[in-house]
Amino acid sequence: MGFFSKSFDPATDLPDLSGKVILITGGNTGIGYSTVKHLARRGAKVYMAARNQTKAEEAIAQLKAEGLGPGNGDVIWLELDLKDPRNAKKAGERFMKQEKRLDVLIHNAAILLENYTMTPDGVQEIVMVNVISHIVLTRTLQPLLDQTAAEPNSDVRIVVVASGAYRFVSGETHFRNLDDLNNELKSSLSPTFARYCVSKLMNMLYAFELQRHLTAVGSPITVIALHPGVVNTFSDKPPRSNFKFIIEPITRVHIPRQFAAASEEVAEQRQKYKGAYLTPVGKANRADEGGKDEGLAKELLNTVDKFLEEKGI
Ligand SMILES: NC(=O)c1ccc[n+]([C@@H]2O[C@H](COP(=O)([O-])OP(=O)(O)OC[C@H]3O[C@@H](n4cnc5c(N)ncnc54)[C@H](OP(=O)(O)O)[C@@H]3O)[C@@H](O)[C@H]2O)c1
Repeated sequence: MGFFSKSFDPATDLPDLSGKVILITGGNTGIGYSTVKHLARRGAKVYMAARNQTKAEEAIAQLKAEGLGPGNGDVIWLELDLKDPRNAKKAGERFMKQEKRLDVLIHNAAILLENYTMTPDGVQEIVMVNVISHIVLTRTLQPLLDQTAAEPNSDVRIVVVASGAYRFVSGETHFRNLDDLNNELKSSLSPTFARYCVSKLMNMLYAFELQRHLTAVGSPITVIALHPGVVNTFSDKPPRSNFKFIIEPITRVHIPRQFAAASEEVAEQRQKYKGAYLTPVGKANRADEGGKDEGLAKELLNTVDKFLEEKGI
């Protein structure tokens, strides 16, 4: 089972999470929803950072109806629209006023397979949502993550839900400027899927660069990137439904989000899991060279930093 020394059942194998505060982006639906459920059921206070109040409230009502026992944690909506990095910053600032700790931050929300759309800030939406606004949110929350990490017996984690799809990025890839970030990839067999894969490569690069940085400054925080498995959150949502014929046959069991976010094994073997790439199946579970490319990670972050500086964010 690769990184997993034994099979892992989030319903029974997660420790008591009472007193822990967890923030997950998205979480009102899809893969994030079940992550919220398992963490709250072990007693965590989970912030569901979602853009749509009605959808979030309905999801929370549903979670409560399904039951948050035995740990009886809490689920709270935090307004967050990742299309606008200013909104991500504000959401982080609101959270910092509301909470005294943050044990786990999970980058989960994403645009998956959507038509090419440009944001008013001149960055394509999939890069803004999946990558840049998550970076802004994390940076805004960093002081609280650091403060929590400085407490005795703390175990602060940043979990980046990436995807094995990053491996499909082919050809020479650069992130030198906004043109590179906005590449439509028109010559790809499926430009929609290709843009998603690139955004997931960016997630991987960011996660490992963040771990390198945190380790270099002496922070004990663990950053983990993961592929959650292939889960059918596609069939009913055009234009994703075009991919239904691929997705449905390969849908399979998925567990590493809860493992990455809260398992005891990660706490006990931090050095092994710092900067790790977890997948539900497979052996090596180390990101390949593409995902670990330090030069490309720096290129990406330089471009993001320049963009944010120009926008005053
Ligand atoms: N499903 C898979 O097979 C698979 C495989 C590999 C990796 N992943 C990764 O797993 C994660 C979850 O995917 P999923 O399949 O659960 O997708 P999903 O069902 O489409 O859920 C995506 C979540 O992101 C939120 N979101 C989208 N745009 C947002 C924005 N502008 N601001 C705030 N939230 C926004 C959505 O909120 P709304 O409900 O408001 O749209 C939703 O909560 C993603 O990072 C994805 O790349 C999934």
